[in-house]
Amino acid sequence: MPDKLLYALARPVLFAMDAEQAHNLTLPALRRSAALGLTKLIAKPANDARTVMGIQFPNPVGLAAGLDKDGAYIDGLAGLGFGSIEIGTVTPRAQAGNPKPRMFRLPKANAIINRMGFNNGGVDAFVSNVQASQFYQDKQGVLGLNIGKNADTPIERAAEDYLLCLEKVYPYASYVTVNISSPNTKNLRQLQGASEVDALLAQLKEAQQKLADHYKRYVPLALKIAPDMDSEQIKNIAEALLRHKIDGVIATNTTITRDAVKGLEHAEEAGGLSGEPVFELSNKVIRALKSELGDALPIIGVGGIFSGTDAKAKIDAGAALVQLYSGLIYRGPALVRECAAALKANSKSR
Ligand code: FNR
Repeated sequence: MPDKLLYALARPVLFAMDAEQAHNLTLPALRRSAALGLTKLIAKPANDARTVMGIQFPNPVGLAAGLDKDGAYIDGLAGLGFGSIEIGTVTPRAQAGNPKPRMFRLPKANAIINRMGFNNGGVDAFVSNVQASQFYQDKQGVLGLNIGKNADTPIERAAEDYLLCLEKVYPYASYVTVNISSPNTKNLRQLQGASEVDALLAQLKEAQQKLADHYKRYVPLALKIAPDMDSEQIKNIAEALLRHKIDGVIATNTTITRDAVKGLEHAEEAGGLSGEPVFELSNKVIRALKSELGDALPIIGVGGIFSGTDAKAKIDAGAALVQLYSGLIYRGPALVRECAAALKANSKSR
């Protein structure tokens, strides 16, 4: 397993650096490796196709949003064996995000805290990057495009940003994710409130229908939600998803809670906590969603997957597919294969 060995060597070097610096070094290196054909040497998961939201996913293990905010590294990431790649969150206009440092590792907890704040080059550059990728041009796989709002757009006008992004990314997406759950854009999570989510989904659904007619292609919409919600809030969201016939739900984003990391270095940094501490929180949300939604719409489970067993637990909780981000940082690309193998074995034994 050359990638396993390579990652075992690279990780201590990367972990000695500032987290964002390591990120900024690794992605261009991955792109170069892909261009040289080196990522072809990474063993890929066996085919284990699942049809979810009407899309055929070659395997159920996806890359979660936020690693490639601008879609600048799609072809490099495509070499890692994911069944889908979600890029973004993108906003209508370019924005710098929060001041650095804004990404912190908590290795004792297998966790990351980030307060990036949707740093990105804006939706037009994002679309150009997608168009330029071989992955998109050759229709190599499933590409999720994750949309948000600019930090300086008042929350009352958030829908305008989502609608503008939806219109621009629609023709290039396998599915579009509506991210209303980042803790790093002021008031964004207010959009998860019962009346707010209802109004937003109504407008997005109407736009989706118009775009489907225009492009003669139906692109599913998925809503990405936070782990920090009580059962009443989850119920409200589930009802809104059903009412507006939204195609999927991604559970979950990062948590603002810190119980699992108390006392550790960086634990008190502001932002969203991801990795192992969010595993059980997100499983709880998945189980609650599943009991509200049944089989009416699929759940994509994300949060704290560090092993094949963790991936299986998300499916057992009610997810149809899984995604991961922090586990990739801690365990390297071999994790994708491990999760895919565990889920393939799991579906066979059912
Ligand atoms: C994220 N995540 C994220 N999610 C999203 O919808 N849009 C985004 O821009 C980002 N940005 C982002 C940056 C960083 C540094 C991290 C660690 C995470 C959240 C991510 O997609 C995922 O939902 C959570 O991290 C939980 O999964 P993991 O990381 O525990 O596997």
